[in-house]
Amino acid sequence: MDSEIVLHVDGRRLSVNVDTRTTLLDALRERLGITSVKKGCDHGQCGACTVLLDGRRVVPCLALAVAHDGSSVTTSAGLAQDGSPHPLHAAFVKQDALQCGYCTPGQVCSAAGMLEEHRAGWPSAVSENLLGCPELTLQEIRERMSGNLCRCGSYGNIVAAIASAAEVTAE
Ligand code: FES
Repeated sequence: MDSEIVLHVDGRRLSVNVDTRTTLLDALRERLGITSVKKGCDHGQCGACTVLLDGRRVVPCLALAVAHDGSSVTTSAGLAQDGSPHPLHAAFVKQDALQCGYCTPGQVCSAAGMLEEHRAGWPSAVSENLLGCPELTLQEIRERMSGNLCRCGSYGNIVAAIASAAEVTAE
């Protein structure tokens, strides 16, 4: 059964007819042609498709499109503002934080969502202090980004890029 849904993607209002079994990832990529969202494992394991859904990072391969009618989706491309790269984009370039680049849009979206979670005081599995805002150490960044895999193994530079965008210097 098809349903018409509306998605606000990177500031654009888009409507699309989707089968009720269509994932949000397939609605974005296959139906709406938004290729800045990448399909990796399609099983919620690699993080390549990460987007911000109503401001929170999600893997849209595990979300049904019809469940998010009316929602806002921000892709890596949508993080750029007024034609200028987002600070995370600039940091990834400066730190050479990619090789093939397939995971990069998901890494950037995940990092943007992760930094907001940290600002909101959310602890991670490695946070020692569960009350109050934990310090954003490199260990915290590694843990909080552990859902985003990089088949090229660019982790060192990815963590360095996020740390630089977040102005983290301490271990
Ligand atoms: Fe190739 Fe991450 S840069 S998978």
